[in-house]
Amino acid sequence: MNVKEVEKKFQAIYQKQPTHAFFAPGRVNLIGEHTDYNGGLVFPCALSFGTYLLISPREDKQTHFHSLNFNFSATVNANAFTNKPTEWIKYPLGVMKEFADRGFNPWGYDLLYYGNIPNGAGLSSSASIEIVTAVMLNEVTRAMFDMVEMIKMSQHAENNYVGMNCGIMDQFAVGIGKANQAIALDCATLEYEYVPLAMKGYKLVITNTNKKRGLTDSKYNERRTECEEAVTAISKEHPIKFLCELNIEEFNHFNHLLPNSTILRRARHVISENQRVIHAIDALKEGKLNKLGQLMNESHKSLKEDYEVTGIELDTLAEESQLQKGVLGSRMTGAGFGGCTVTLVAENEVDNYIKKVSQLYKAKTDLEATFYIANIGNGACKLY
Ligand code: GLA
Repeated sequence: MNVKEVEKKFQAIYQKQPTHAFFAPGRVNLIGEHTDYNGGLVFPCALSFGTYLLISPREDKQTHFHSLNFNFSATVNANAFTNKPTEWIKYPLGVMKEFADRGFNPWGYDLLYYGNIPNGAGLSSSASIEIVTAVMLNEVTRAMFDMVEMIKMSQHAENNYVGMNCGIMDQFAVGIGKANQAIALDCATLEYEYVPLAMKGYKLVITNTNKKRGLTDSKYNERRTECEEAVTAISKEHPIKFLCELNIEEFNHFNHLLPNSTILRRARHVISENQRVIHAIDALKEGKLNKLGQLMNESHKSLKEDYEVTGIELDTLAEESQLQKGVLGSRMTGAGFGGCTVTLVAENEVDNYIKKVSQLYKAKTDLEATFYIANIGNGACKLY
């Protein structure tokens, strides 16, 4: 559905025209997984698909939420903040609470959400809902927050209201993405630089495992705790705030302090992944796509063996992809435990690649994979 079609749905549901429309994309991360909450580097891009939010003011002090994707519909008021809902509405509501907590009145609107990001697939459908809500509230409340502030507020909502202890990468990419550019972001300082995605005959193919994700949030939060344990242990001799302050040599020097081999492998992934991002940024700047591909393969291996966030579905997709003609590299993208892979494929091999990998994947997992050619789009914006 495009915005015109969502508009028609708005009219059918609310019997009036929307006064404003907003859009926020999803994101794909090229490399730098589970580094953001460790004060490291990430290298994501915004996608051309995302979430639309159409609105119109209401007379009363309530807000009506309607999601076309979830067939969800509810009218709520400020009491909803304390009732902490478990369903979809927690994402926009968490962001509304951020505005309310800063003294801006977010109530009194009819809202319609529609997203074309595959849901729960590691392409940041939640961050997209949060950021589109923040951009809308910023406009209607005239709060005048800048994008980085709204990114922080959305992350805070996800950490504290939704209960997912995510880093800042997703909200950042969704908020400040730029067409045909990757974002080299330092999550410790929030300094960033755009790097042109000069693809020279190659395409980024995103493949969804279509595996239903179960315990993602609790497993994710568990990995964060393991990283904090590593920081505490190393800090006994060498005080650090984040694991990514260490390079590989320093890590090798201090890793005897770590309490067990699991914590050691978790920390080794984070620190080696951070070094891979540094090399990947250089590789893309220098047009060395072969090198970028090789780093993507190494990243997947480390996420599989050291960080243990892959599983049979992601491993099958990434490893079978790596063997295909015209493929320079393939890895899981996002939190893991299901979700998607991202693969660098020669343009003239894409059809063949999709055919082969979908057969191999089906044979091994009995699941159908879905393939998307990634178009790299702009960050969140007001459409009208
Ligand atoms: C999820 C989180 C991000 C990041 C990635 C893993 O997408 O929301 O903050 O930690 O996982 O790199």
